[in-house]
Amino acid sequence: MNLLGGIAVFVTLLVIKIQDSMAVCGYESCPITKDNLINIHLVPHSHNDVGWLKTADQSYYGYKNNIHHAGVQYILDNVVTELLKDSSRRFIQVETAFFSKWWKEQTATMKSAVKKLVNEGRLEFTGGAWSMNDEGSVNYQPVIDQFTHGLKFLNETFGSCARPRVGWQIDTFGHSREQASLFAQMGYDGQFFSRMDHNDKDTRLENLSMEMIWQASESLQDLELFSGLLYAFYSDTPGYGFCFDVLCNDSPIIDGNSYDNNVKSRIDEFISYASEVAEHYRTNHIMIPLGGDYQYEDAQVNFKNMDKLIKYLNERQSEGSQFNIFYSTPSCYLNSLHQSGQTWPNKAQDFFPYAHEPNSFWTGYFTSRPNQKRFERIGNHMLQTAKQLSTFAQLESEQQKKDLDFLREIMGVMQHHDAITGTERQAVSNDYDRLLHKAIVGAENNARDALRVLTNLTNGEFESCLQLNISVCAFTKDSADDVVVTLFNPLAHTSTQYVRVPVKDESYEVTNEKGTVVASEIVPVAWQVLDLEYRSNDTQHELIFKASVDKIANYYIKKVDNSAKAFDDGESKVPLRFKEINSLKNTDTFADDSSETVVKTSLIKLVIDNESGRLKNIEMNGVSENIQQNFGVYKSYESCPYTFRQNNDIEVFENNFEFTVYDGTLVKEVHQQVNEWISQVIRIYEGVNHVEFEWLVGPISTDDNLGKEVVTYFQSEIESNGVFYTDSNGREILKREKDQRESFVADLSKAPNSGNYYPVTSRIALQDENKRMALLNDRSQGGTGMDNGRLEIMLHRRHFFNDGGGVGEALNEEQFGTGLIARGQLYLMLNPVNKGATISERLTEKEIILPFWKFFSKASTATSAVPKALPSFDVLPDSVHLLTLEPFTEKEILLRVENILDVNEGNTVCFNPRLILDGLSGQEIRETTLDGNLPLTEMKRFKFTHDSSSVQSKSPEYFTASYIPLEAKSRDLIDSQICLDPMQIRTFIIKT
Ligand SMILES: *[C@@H]1O[C@H](CO)[C@@H](O)[C@H](O)[C@H]1NC(C)=O
Ligand SMILES: *[C@@H]1O[C@H](CO)[C@@H](O)[C@H](O)[C@H]1NC(C)=O
Ligand SMILES: [Zn+2]
Repeated sequence: MNLLGGIAVFVTLLVIKIQDSMAVCGYESCPITKDNLINIHLVPHSHNDVGWLKTADQSYYGYKNNIHHAGVQYILDNVVTELLKDSSRRFIQVETAFFSKWWKEQTATMKSAVKKLVNEGRLEFTGGAWSMNDEGSVNYQPVIDQFTHGLKFLNETFGSCARPRVGWQIDTFGHSREQASLFAQMGYDGQFFSRMDHNDKDTRLENLSMEMIWQASESLQDLELFSGLLYAFYSDTPGYGFCFDVLCNDSPIIDGNSYDNNVKSRIDEFISYASEVAEHYRTNHIMIPLGGDYQYEDAQVNFKNMDKLIKYLNERQSEGSQFNIFYSTPSCYLNSLHQSGQTWPNKAQDFFPYAHEPNSFWTGYFTSRPNQKRFERIGNHMLQTAKQLSTFAQLESEQQKKDLDFLREIMGVMQHHDAITGTERQAVSNDYDRLLHKAIVGAENNARDALRVLTNLTNGEFESCLQLNISVCAFTKDSADDVVVTLFNPLAHTSTQYVRVPVKDESYEVTNEKGTVVASEIVPVAWQVLDLEYRSNDTQHELIFKASVDKIANYYIKKVDNSAKAFDDGESKVPLRFKEINSLKNTDTFADDSSETVVKTSLIKLVIDNESGRLKNIEMNGVSENIQQNFGVYKSYESCPYTFRQNNDIEVFENNFEFTVYDGTLVKEVHQQVNEWISQVIRIYEGVNHVEFEWLVGPISTDDNLGKEVVTYFQSEIESNGVFYTDSNGREILKREKDQRESFVADLSKAPNSGNYYPVTSRIALQDENKRMALLNDRSQGGTGMDNGRLEIMLHRRHFFNDGGGVGEALNEEQFGTGLIARGQLYLMLNPVNKGATISERLTEKEIILPFWKFFSKASTATSAVPKALPSFDVLPDSVHLLTLEPFTEKEILLRVENILDVNEGNTVCFNPRLILDGLSGQEIRETTLDGNLPLTEMKRFKFTHDSSSVQSKSPEYFTASYIPLEAKSRDLIDSQICLDPMQIRTFIIKT
């Protein structure tokens, strides 16, 4: 370095330092409030859905404004201009998907102006994830991912001043406890929202409990999150008219010399509104958000009027007015509450289901667009697969990073509260599908590049088959001869699963990497699937074999001529073809009594009633239970994408089901025809401890022109008496009780079933003292256990009514010129009631959400190359889940581990990370908050005082990490144990 260069660097550093010390962001930049007055925190905001009536891009560019006036790029352009005009003005920015897109289009001058605004707390990021995610149908894994990605963009672009302090879930259709838990784990100080059951809200308005401390976890200590309900909906000052936006028609403030001068009346009105709000909140601070959907496109109009509002309202103080108003932000409002010394009520359960008025439970969206909900899960599956493979193979090209980022971003978009919810218009849904498909294809390229390094198939195709759910795979459609199936196991622990490959009706032999022949068999595909009009019919069978995979394993498929094969393991000398047994014919496998058909493996026995064709009894894990499964529909005139409005009770199918049994050695299947548009395969695999129900529903009949909610239910004799359990975003479990709510009485008069529906994102269960029945699913759905012994799941829905709930379209999905057909799986587990039951449910859940990803290549692509070694995760205790492993920044890897057992199921477990770090060439490690962007040592978040607390602290309190975060700057130091309490997740950044 020459001297001049040194000076230049020095000067630059000095300038940055000066800027830093001048810049005050965060709580220090909050407006000064007045203790003796009612402080009105006026919060300018715009709610920008990442796709709803128009696609995300159309909403960004202001395209197709005839559909919906929305132009996010102009909003940001104009808001920034207005903020720069006056240093007292503030604005919050929520959706990082839109902000990052806008940022990339800005000039250097604009960028530095925006940085200044951020560094002075005038432009504040609130929420800050890629999208404002839904809370009912999301799984926690992609939610954590989309926060990580959004917050990482903000940190990389602006540094710590951009770090959001407050969650802003103002439009999501109910609120999950897990979302609150995730916010707390990410170090957020609190959250605000605006939708809650109308009866709940009325109660809370009355007893001053609009703001509360949410106990967000039953297992984890210190996981409290301050949560506040806005007084009115996020875009309203109901009855008072203070929408100062070109999208509204409320009166501006006219302060000039005019006959229409309305300063007095407008200020009177605002004060009336503020007084009304203040009556329902506990402190002398209130928050009034001004804004709404896509508002502030002409931000000058908003700010000009708000400036006047502030000026004239505060002028009244000289006349004795008690109100003080200023531009503020949700975090500054929360800061005032934190400083106030006020105590707060407690909240333990969640805010589902949401109803905005009688008979309007928003429980339909838990199931709306079932195929899109499944596709999102596939997106997550591919994302986790591609992230891990990219890390192992150290993929570093720009294209590879871009492809991975694109799937991260689209998965962020998919979590949006009008995406995974299915509450967007059809054209927008199609666009989500297009984007997600494109993103999955990009990530598959990464996976392929990685697998070429990590296996000896150095030229392998590693093709994925995205239509395996209907037994279609382009790679095997002509023949599966000399095909290698490379299985990737995203889980930490070795897993054994059955693999199904669509094949022609030919004989095959499957061998593993040691050259050992593994048992396999050929199963016919259900005729209802073959019958699908748009399905190519090259493959009518599936080859099934059992695979055991640590991280990556190849299985080789070869065509063989004769059907007589010997298996090395000797266990299964089976005929290649299934015995196809007509249920009426009695053979050994059936019970003597020909009124029933028995199908069994060594672990499970199913009894089918021959007359009705329905499941009648299940025996497994030492429990025998009469369980009748049936299907039914709720018919309605008025349901919509959001709501499940009941006009009637459920109508169940009384007809007998036709069925056929396929009795193999590895798998037994009962193929049932329920009616013209519903069929099902019940499946049990040898050695597997759950029963699989693969349903095929659609096109839902339009005969009577009534909308339909299609459900299936499992009626047992378990005495559950209306108590059941559902998961919260795939993590902790909440107890539900028929008709009961935590702190209010719900109006269930018109919709007794709908109002007892809850989100089932991974699991629903019921039990009595002896037996427990659980259903696990492959996508998010609505479900209930309100009836004694009965679990019910909504599978599909179709409606013809456009309810005015906003979306402006009926939920009437069509594809290939007819009503949408959906296919999916439920998994039933029956157990004695003990700790082990729920543990096995958890482990199964992980195999359902992250099963082996199958890649197909030709055997001829193998070479003698030695594959790159993989790290071993064997050191992880059984209950520890590899939640995330991904490339982070340059030479950094993000690792997240989770103890998946809760406090009733497991204990604190520990492991030494040394081997994992060695496998990843880790040199340094630091622990961060859940989102990966803040060193855990720096985490400090607001602690609020409970009403019930006997001691009241004089000064504001904080939570910091409750243990010493792991930090090691050199390899030698990396020797400490990592311990995980029940349900704890720990996040680390590893430098390589
Ligand atoms: C590739 O690896 C497999 C499994 O280790 C091995 O059986 C096979 O011979 C290898 N192929 C070549 C061409 O070396
Ligand atoms: C934010 O980003 C900077 C550089 O981009 C990085 O050094 C820092 O560690 C990140 N922040 C945190 C809290 O990790
Ligand atoms: Zn919205």
